[in-house]
Amino acid sequence: MEKVIKLSQIKNAAQEAYNEAKGITGGKNANYIPYLANIDSNLFGLSVTLLDGTCINFGDTEYKFGIESVSKVPTAILAMIQHTPEGVLEKIGADATGLPFNSIFALLLENDHPSTPLVNAGAISACSMVAPQGDSEDKWNAIVKNITELCGSAPQLIDELYMSETATNFNNHAIAWLLKNYNRIYDDVDMSLDLYTRQCSLGITSSQLAIMGATIANKGLNPVTKLQVFDEAIAPKITSMIASVGFYQHTGDWLYTSGIPAKTGVGGGVMGVMPGLFGIAAFAPPLDDAGNSVKAQAAIKAFMNKLELGIFKGDTVKIIND
Ligand code: DON
Repeated sequence: MEKVIKLSQIKNAAQEAYNEAKGITGGKNANYIPYLANIDSNLFGLSVTLLDGTCINFGDTEYKFGIESVSKVPTAILAMIQHTPEGVLEKIGADATGLPFNSIFALLLENDHPSTPLVNAGAISACSMVAPQGDSEDKWNAIVKNITELCGSAPQLIDELYMSETATNFNNHAIAWLLKNYNRIYDDVDMSLDLYTRQCSLGITSSQLAIMGATIANKGLNPVTKLQVFDEAIAPKITSMIASVGFYQHTGDWLYTSGIPAKTGVGGGVMGVMPGLFGIAAFAPPLDDAGNSVKAQAAIKAFMNKLELGIFKGDTVKIIND
């Protein structure tokens, strides 16, 4: 079916989704990272970026929160840019784990394979793949430059979050050394873990994440800056990874009820990608039991349902100005 949606409908759906989700209570800030436990639980923002560059924002969309696991997406893209999608498939994988993001068990079950760059194990492995090998600062600059190009503006390291995570990331140390044991770390172990921890500690806004989502939805062309950030062949690869594991053990439920591939982070951010149409992001700190923001999920689902959109609907959708 061909479906025509007016820009005003999209703006209204975003406003209504924001208003509805704002009243939702429930969930708790991440408490295993001390910095995140203390963030104001009432913060909430919803951002949508269309592929003509239109940006729609409601609420706290300029507040810089910890990007956390959403950072796994840009670094997976960077690894694909530098090593091709096939190289990432071979060195890390593209499979869903169906288990929590920090699962050591998943690594053992997959027979030494990190599964996907979108869980902690695969993300640490992806950081180890980033070129140039052996130089922490140059690798870091490549990671930040890539995020900056995807968002059209720079993220900012939250030093307190970085220190907080570095002091408490014992489980990730175990994962990193297990990866080393399985020859799935392609650079220095401590450096790779540090790069992963640092990228998780970058401050980002929901408006920046919506632009990143829109850049992926737009086959690598940032719709705001008009920069071609990555080759269009990478877009369906990263979107398939987001679709298959973006919500960890709740990914199936998420895709079934929302109809949009999305990636979450324990900082409270969720970034969605609707190929050929838009990027969407929401942020609110309280999380459910799998580490996914309660309000952000509700807002994105409400937006999708109001517009009757879904990646599996098979509709050809056109957005028109009115
Ligand atoms: O490594 C960690 O545990 C955190 N830096 C990131 C985890 C995360 O965001 C999981 N996502 N929902």
